[in-house]
Amino acid sequence: MSEQGFSPPTSEWYHPSEEVVKNANVPDYEAVYNEAVSDPEIFWAKRAETLDWYQKWDKVLDDSNKPFYKWFTGGKTNIVLNALDRHIKTWRKNKIAFIWEGENGDKVSMSYWRLWQEVNKFSNVLRSMGVKKGDRVTIYMGRVPEIVIAMLACAKIGAPHSVVYGGFSEQALADRIEDAQSRVLITCDGAWLRGKIVKLKDTVDEAVHRSPVVDTVIVVKRTGHEINMEQGRDYWYHDLMSLPIASVRSETEVMDAEDPLFILYTSGTTGKPKGVLHTHGGYQVYTSTTLSWAFDIKDDDRWWCAADPGWITGHSYIVYAPLILGATSIIYEGAPTYPYPDRWWRIVENYGVTILYTAPTAIRGLMRFGDAWPNRHDLSSLRLLGSVGEPINPEAWRWYHKVIGNEECPIIDTWWQTETGGFMITPLPSVGLKPGSATRPFPGIEVDIVDEKGDPVAAGEDGDLVIKGPWPSMIRTVYGDDERFLRQYWEKYKDKGYYLAGDTARRDEDGYLWVIGRNDDVLKVSGYRLGTAEVESGLVSHGTIAESAVIGIPDDLKGNVIYAYCIPVAGVEGSDALVDELKDHIRHEVGPIAVPAKIEFVDKLPKTRSGKIMRRVLKAQAMGQPLGDLSTLED
Ligand code: WT7
Repeated sequence: MSEQGFSPPTSEWYHPSEEVVKNANVPDYEAVYNEAVSDPEIFWAKRAETLDWYQKWDKVLDDSNKPFYKWFTGGKTNIVLNALDRHIKTWRKNKIAFIWEGENGDKVSMSYWRLWQEVNKFSNVLRSMGVKKGDRVTIYMGRVPEIVIAMLACAKIGAPHSVVYGGFSEQALADRIEDAQSRVLITCDGAWLRGKIVKLKDTVDEAVHRSPVVDTVIVVKRTGHEINMEQGRDYWYHDLMSLPIASVRSETEVMDAEDPLFILYTSGTTGKPKGVLHTHGGYQVYTSTTLSWAFDIKDDDRWWCAADPGWITGHSYIVYAPLILGATSIIYEGAPTYPYPDRWWRIVENYGVTILYTAPTAIRGLMRFGDAWPNRHDLSSLRLLGSVGEPINPEAWRWYHKVIGNEECPIIDTWWQTETGGFMITPLPSVGLKPGSATRPFPGIEVDIVDEKGDPVAAGEDGDLVIKGPWPSMIRTVYGDDERFLRQYWEKYKDKGYYLAGDTARRDEDGYLWVIGRNDDVLKVSGYRLGTAEVESGLVSHGTIAESAVIGIPDDLKGNVIYAYCIPVAGVEGSDALVDELKDHIRHEVGPIAVPAKIEFVDKLPKTRSGKIMRRVLKAQAMGQPLGDLSTLED
């Protein structure tokens, strides 16, 4: 399982200043960690008490039907009660919830009061469209203020949202609409990206054509270009929001703690993406605690999570947790390099951003342009930096630390997943750092690195990263597929009751954790998660390909790029023209992220005798490495 040549800098320490430690929300990690481990239920109950509930829970953790754990059962709440309703009764109502900047320079800043009103109005619009508690609503939008409003409005009326990232193709969108069976879809005419319009509504039209379960489409006007509006199905957001029905008075639906908050699709090892289900109660407790402690949010901070609301990072740490904490966020619509590679640094300077949270692929992408771009700007407002999505290579870490953080900002490298809802392994600002290590588990979380039998491996050895106990924001199930939930996460270490993360990791002599990467058929390309199966079935669906195998090859910028090996159907010859056609096909069937860097035509694929493709062999071959144990190879 060992990754070739992975030798982390385990003795390169960076210690926080006394100042940072003293002022941190949690100055003593060790003490809080031990307290949490000694009695997790009391610990989480205390955290839950920092939030508002319509009715207090009877039981913190119900583990009577493992691994279908339930948290805060009997409790009545709604995440919007904590994210908005409670703030407008305090001085925070006039605080800025977020400052939004469009790629084209448009600006919006919205107070908690105004956001509360917009959400109330839109929740009434949704109700008038017949959306009821429990109905799934699909959201396919750019990074605009209205996506935040739409998500919160759904939550407010108890309708689980299913946000589909705006970079996904028509087929990916259609599949997710179909799986969630959502009648109502919220979108934009287009999105600005790199100075060009991404035609979201065109993609929606095609997706709805393929999945006709949608009968109502609400369209936010962002780019203003000409689009098709279908009578009786499509409505402009601004038209609806100016109707008398869009009253600023709206009751927040009283939800059970375990009622679904959202479904978010993510790639798995086989077949179609799975709908990860999260609920109101545990999720609000866990996301707000992790953000407050790992990123040390204070009232005068300007928090910028530069992800997209369409991913779990955006759900948890652009939308829900910052609002629960009453923080002020920055949201930027477009590309980091538009019109110049200093766009982000300009934003940090202009708005006095104090905490920046982004992905290694973005850091590497900006690092490429050299130090002059960040050096031109005053970045002295920054006090903490964050990383997420894939292991951060030490070179990128050091650059981020030195050039962006002026060697003064701790780097909070957070390991987690769509399924975990919030940070699982992460330093708190008071913890000593090593570049490339996510350090230690968050208080209340017990992890281990184990061998195939589930026994802990020695320090320095690679193994499966597992989570040993339940936590409040854990995935509740795969939407509509309990079997898959059990198989994917719980089957392998069933006897021990461990949650299988799907990553290989290592623990060093100091107990620091190093996540090496996925060990299943999931790829990380520019931090985006993709299943090899999705790309492979996309290739086969073109009709010219009988069978294909897809692997990830390490890449300096993207982390991994995709290589695809394809066997053409009888009578079809591989050619450059076919390569172009297949790439274009993948762009439409799966999305631009999934387009292979290389497509090679072959007449055979390495398989085991039981017919499983040995991707490991393809990878070793592509990288010019020894092929390893071939005893199970069929031919
Ligand atoms: C996978 C989960 C969690 C939000 C974004 C990704 C990889 C994530 C780190 C990190 C090393 C990381 C893992 C994980 N990953 N963060 N700090 N260090 N690897 O969520 O798309 O569900 O992907 O991302 O491989 O399993 P996701």
